[in-house]
Amino acid sequence: MADAAAPRRITRRTFLGWWLASLMTATVITGLLPILVFFWPAPPKGQKKGPINIALQTPINQLQDGDAVKFDAPRNPNSAFIMADGGGDNASGELAFGGFVVKNQGKVSVFAINCSHLGCSVALNKDARTFDCPCHGSRFHLDGTVLRGPAPVPLSHLAWKQGANPGDIQVEGIVLGF
Ligand code: FES
Repeated sequence: MADAAAPRRITRRTFLGWWLASLMTATVITGLLPILVFFWPAPPKGQKKGPINIALQTPINQLQDGDAVKFDAPRNPNSAFIMADGGGDNASGELAFGGFVVKNQGKVSVFAINCSHLGCSVALNKDARTFDCPCHGSRFHLDGTVLRGPAPVPLSHLAWKQGANPGDIQVEGIVLGF
């Protein structure tokens, strides 16, 4: 009768089996790594997401109702804003290189500058109180909704908060670093 407490002997067959299994696992991992890096690339060096401080030409507390102030993403270092929502040509997570702070019926909103049709930069039409796209004629109300197509959906919002100074806002964005 075999002694249950006796240590099990590792046979040559067991050893070779484990050795082959380890070798195959290492080979598979080595082969898969370049593919995984392709699907989950590391962010390029120098890129950093976070709030970007913007000094507005007109502080929010001096904006008249129906007025808007344009701002651009900093160039040094090269940065962009991140859309919070969107549709059409825009989407949450897409980049914008400019935006508008608008005061409309007492409410302050911040929009990406990109038209939701094909991404051209919209401009404020102060007289009509609209944002107009020069490319194909889309028009947006000051609340970002579509007044006239072909833009299919409203302008994208940018996430923001008041900055430390009255004339500053902080807009969610990314330092691109190139
Ligand atoms: S890109 Fe604005 S209407 Fe086409």
